[in-house]
Amino acid sequence: MKWAEIRREFPICLENAYLMSASIGPLPIQTCDAIKEHANYLMETSAIGEFKYFEDVEVTRQSAAHLLGANKDNIGFSPNTSFSMNILAMLLKQKTKKRQVIIPRDEFPASTLPWIKQGFEIRWVNSSESRIDINSIKELIDEQTAAVIHSGVQFATGFRQDLKKLGAILEEQEIPFIVNGTQLLGAFPVDVKEIKAMALTASCHKWLCAGLGINITYMNSKFLEGTKWPLAGWGSNKDVWKLDNEQLNMRSEVSAIEIGSFSSLNITALNEAIKFYQQLDPQAAAQRILELSDELYRGLKNAGIQVISACDPIEAGIQSCNSGIISFKASNSAELVKHLASQKIYTSDRSGLVRAAVHYFNDESDLKKLMAALKATCNFS
Ligand SMILES: Cc1ncc(COP(=O)(O)O)c(C=O)c1O
Repeated sequence: MKWAEIRREFPICLENAYLMSASIGPLPIQTCDAIKEHANYLMETSAIGEFKYFEDVEVTRQSAAHLLGANKDNIGFSPNTSFSMNILAMLLKQKTKKRQVIIPRDEFPASTLPWIKQGFEIRWVNSSESRIDINSIKELIDEQTAAVIHSGVQFATGFRQDLKKLGAILEEQEIPFIVNGTQLLGAFPVDVKEIKAMALTASCHKWLCAGLGINITYMNSKFLEGTKWPLAGWGSNKDVWKLDNEQLNMRSEVSAIEIGSFSSLNITALNEAIKFYQQLDPQAAAQRILELSDELYRGLKNAGIQVISACDPIEAGIQSCNSGIISFKASNSAELVKHLASQKIYTSDRSGLVRAAVHYFNDESDLKKLMAALKATCNFS
């Protein structure tokens, strides 16, 4: 598929320069059609005959596992990263007496608050010009370090960490590595084994374009050994249809975090979103995002706008720290974002920054519209 053809799968692009995939990615027609079909099934068939729900969950689990280079038993679904990060913090609290975690200051609170709630002390990693130096993480590691928690891409600055390098260092020092993949999944390929993640949690409503309310959680087999799940429900028992009211007989697979019924609409959406993404060729999609974001970065810089996102030369390709997120300073970012929206150019206001998120379905015309609107405005310096 050519990019122009892919763009046509996203009707939101017809009238809008949609640069908000770091907030919520729009549904492509293919995914929307799958959800409509499932909604019709729920309307016409519901639970008559064979109820496909459990089978659909397992098919989607297999696709999610394939997407992350994991095994099916290591994958569970949850509503969001905040839920899964709480589970991970509760599990780690059981498994170790160490009570410090290392987390970058630039993280989204879904990566941090669950650890505070469980009584961990956070040792903060500062960034410098939006870059998070792996050495400054290494320097904070000591005998009290329970884990390093790190996003693949930082939500505000767009800094993309070298997870493979960081994972290798942490593995050598036997420090559990927990990755928030929410701003990564659907934009850049992730292989949990290659990055040596102990766990990864990724909400799928951003770059994967699967709609709000579904998260993929991975935990490696070593972490699962002897795990005592902190939450239980009928859905987490080994033989769910035994409907046992008295015995806790929980599964050892990550699916045990699915403690009860959840949305079959979300599962349908996720399954189709993964199919859609894999049809594109994830490597080519990542390259497309890097090329467009590089163009935007250079355009903003040339216009004298104070870009805060770090940017490596385009030749560094997938090895660079670049992502689809380009953020810049504006004296009144909230007003500027509103002003752009009035011209159907959609960006996000993130504490004094204007965040533009460039996805593979965007094109040069979106970037041109943004640049022209910024040049016609004088309050962005
Ligand atoms: C890095 C990151 N993690 C998580 C989230 C969302 O958290 P949750 O899935 O808990 O809603 C966001 C943004 O909304 C984010 O940017």
